[in-house]
Amino acid sequence: MFKSINLKDKIVLVTGGSRGIGKAIAKSLVDEGCKVIISSQNFPILKATAKELNVDLFKVDLRNLKEIDDLSKYVISNYKNIDILVNNVGVLYVSSLEKMKDENIDEILDVNVKAIFFLTKRLIPHINKGGTIINISSGLGKKGSADLSVYSASKFAVVGLTQSLASELNDIDVVCVCPKVTNTDMITKNYPDMDPNSMDQPEDVADKVLDSIKGKFRTGSAVDV
Ligand SMILES: NC(=O)c1ccc[n+]([C@@H]2O[C@H](COP(=O)([O-])OP(=O)(O)OC[C@H]3O[C@@H](n4cnc5c(N)ncnc54)[C@H](OP(=O)(O)O)[C@@H]3O)[C@@H](O)[C@H]2O)c1
Repeated sequence: MFKSINLKDKIVLVTGGSRGIGKAIAKSLVDEGCKVIISSQNFPILKATAKELNVDLFKVDLRNLKEIDDLSKYVISNYKNIDILVNNVGVLYVSSLEKMKDENIDEILDVNVKAIFFLTKRLIPHINKGGTIINISSGLGKKGSADLSVYSASKFAVVGLTQSLASELNDIDVVCVCPKVTNTDMITKNYPDMDPNSMDQPEDVADKVLDSIKGKFRTGSAVDV
């Protein structure tokens, strides 16, 4: 089932590519010869990562529709079309629903769900035939857990989007990758007592993303890491 595609010179956008899983995905695609654009909000970190990986960058707050438009326009005007879109951006707040702040509910749904819809919608006409959309969901996109209701619901949404879009699009594969607990700022900030060595590493997720881009999994799949 492998497409065994040569990824050299393929154009890729990785959202949330400045650190963590997104950075590992960007690096593995650079190693395959892709031309990569990474996006995030914190400019110093974004710039440092872009320099380290020798990739293009775009600073964007994906909660803001105008800035999503600006990112889409930047990509289209500079590259015309892309081959791979990696919707990796995500935020996590851990709390019972009862105690969770309204603004945190908004942010999770804006970043983890709406940003993917708005950005993907704008870029679909500019994804080359044979291209791939990778959506990063989570194990929590298949099974909920206490104190993670909003995050989990947002990740279920990503699985639903992936399955539906895969049926909608004929010439573009859409695959969702579902990491387990992975050693990034997202986890070390929220679970400071957890041992990083007991977790997956960002490169484990990047390997699954690469397999997905190379066609190892059927379009519409939600692939566990
Ligand atoms: N780590 C895990 O255990 C785990 C498990 C399952 C799924 N995931 C998923 O994997 C993906 C990557 O997670 P991670 O652990 O690598 O997270 P992370 O280390 O917290 O990195 C998140 C990335 O998203 C960017 N970002 C956050 N809010 C943004 C916004 N409003 N606009 C633009 N960029 C924004 C961040 O950059 P700035 O700070 O500069 O904005 C950063 O580049 C997420 O979708 C996450 O839900 C992670």
